[in-house]
Amino acid sequence: MERRTNRWLLLALALLLSITIVRQADIGRIRHVAHNITNSLRPLYTGAHANTTLGFGAIIAVSRPGSSRREALIRAANITEIDITIPEQPQWTEDDISGLRAVENSTITRGSTLAWLGHLNALHYFLHNTTLSTVLILEDDVDFSLHLRTHQIPLAATAMRMVASNLTIPPSPRNHKSRLQNYWGIPNAWDLLYVGHCGDFYTPESLASLPQSQLIIYPDATLPPYAALHGKTSSQLSDLHVPEAHRLLHPSISPLCTFAFALTRHSAHRILTQYAAREADGGTEAYDVRILEACRDPTFRCWTVNPELFHHVKAESEIAAVNGGGQWSVDEADGDGREEAFNIGCGVRGLAVREGESVAEARERLRGEERCRIGGVEREEGKQGAQRG
Ligand SMILES: *[C@@H]1O[C@H](CO)[C@@H](O)[C@H](O)[C@H]1NC(C)=O
Ligand SMILES: *[C@@H]1O[C@H](CO)[C@@H](O)[C@H](O)[C@H]1NC(C)=O
Ligand SMILES: *[C@@H]1O[C@H](CO)[C@@H](O)[C@H](O)[C@H]1NC(C)=O
Ligand SMILES: *[C@@H]1O[C@H](CO)[C@@H](O)[C@H](O)[C@H]1NC(C)=O
Ligand SMILES: *[C@@H]1O[C@H](CO)[C@@H](O)[C@H](O)[C@H]1NC(C)=O
Ligand SMILES: *[C@@H]1O[C@H](CO)[C@@H](O)[C@H](O)[C@H]1NC(C)=O
Repeated sequence: MERRTNRWLLLALALLLSITIVRQADIGRIRHVAHNITNSLRPLYTGAHANTTLGFGAIIAVSRPGSSRREALIRAANITEIDITIPEQPQWTEDDISGLRAVENSTITRGSTLAWLGHLNALHYFLHNTTLSTVLILEDDVDFSLHLRTHQIPLAATAMRMVASNLTIPPSPRNHKSRLQNYWGIPNAWDLLYVGHCGDFYTPESLASLPQSQLIIYPDATLPPYAALHGKTSSQLSDLHVPEAHRLLHPSISPLCTFAFALTRHSAHRILTQYAAREADGGTEAYDVRILEACRDPTFRCWTVNPELFHHVKAESEIAAVNGGGQWSVDEADGDGREEAFNIGCGVRGLAVREGESVAEARERLRGEERCRIGGVEREEGKQGAQRG
């Protein structure tokens, strides 16, 4: 009896040990694939701010006519010095609504249908303007950091350019002539850039299985301390052994919520005609689920900046889509009910311009706030630990 027990114990121990070894190997691999690009980023970090359309042809916001969220978005854009275009949406008719719904077993709500139509309207608007080759589409309730244009976008774009320069780009009649980089990398290197989402969550193993050249972990001192991030985001980062104040850029694995993403003409056209022309038969909860499905198509190349640079301000349950494989998003039940957007840090959206104060003065006031201090600067000045969530 004793011996038997011992044997089982030994077996269990051996199993545990081998699991631990495998996990350690995974972690080792994750560390190994993590590119430390601090040095190559530095010149861009201090120098080139992104232009007022963040290096895309235009920034287009999806906003219902008369939306109460619009004003705050316009003010936030002004404070951050970015240009946002808000195309008017037509008054959607019952025909528009039923035209979007699945013929069979529709499950989509009216609110979700209208939001979807708004997104398609933005895509039409973009494609209509043939001078634009890329676009960033935002929802009108997103928040973003004061450091978006000056730090976060330049870093993310640099990471994307680095990755893009190593990708095999499928030949296209338009870009065969050159591999010249533009702000977000070689044209046709990507179809969708997910910069605003409610989580791209996966196991460490899925990340480790990506080709080494497709994952970049880069320092971004504007990222709030992990303890100040949403619980799911911070536990994801610590599971992945990502050091504090670093973001990831990688092929999208499981992103949800369409807070902000960039498209090319080709990919916008594919979304309009192929992936999200309407609800799928059998039912789709919302537009973002169709986008997730598009991103699972290997011919539609989505990339995620993680944690996100845009997040909506209120956890309206509209798009807490739960989708195959135990999806969950950062806005589900366990939110702490605060008004501030998750994971953003120095969000501009809540900043009310005071009576008699100019926008520039409001911007300066925000810059002076504790939550807007840039961690890296503090570290350089040896003031480590001064930062609080
Ligand atoms: C990246 O490299 C810089 C400079 O070489 C170094 O200070 C920093 O600690 C490194 N970061 C990581 C995560 O290894
Ligand atoms: C910003 O840069 C992009 C890419 O170079 C360009 O297409 C866009 O027109 C620029 N925006 C402005 C406002 O100059
Ligand atoms: C911000 O608003 C001020 C007026 O309040 C205006 O003069 C300025 O051009 C705006 N800036 C941007 C970037 O829209
Ligand atoms: C196309 O977009 C550019 C850049 O935002 C803008 O200047 C131009 O007016 C637009 N053209 C049309 C026809 O909307
Ligand atoms: C891209 O490829 C070059 C040469 O093969 C390599 O030195 C570099 O580290 C790669 N960059 C990334 C981001 O993987
Ligand atoms: C619609 O629902 C019916 C009844 O549940 C089912 O038999 C049918 O397969 C469904 N159709 C689709 C396209 O999901």
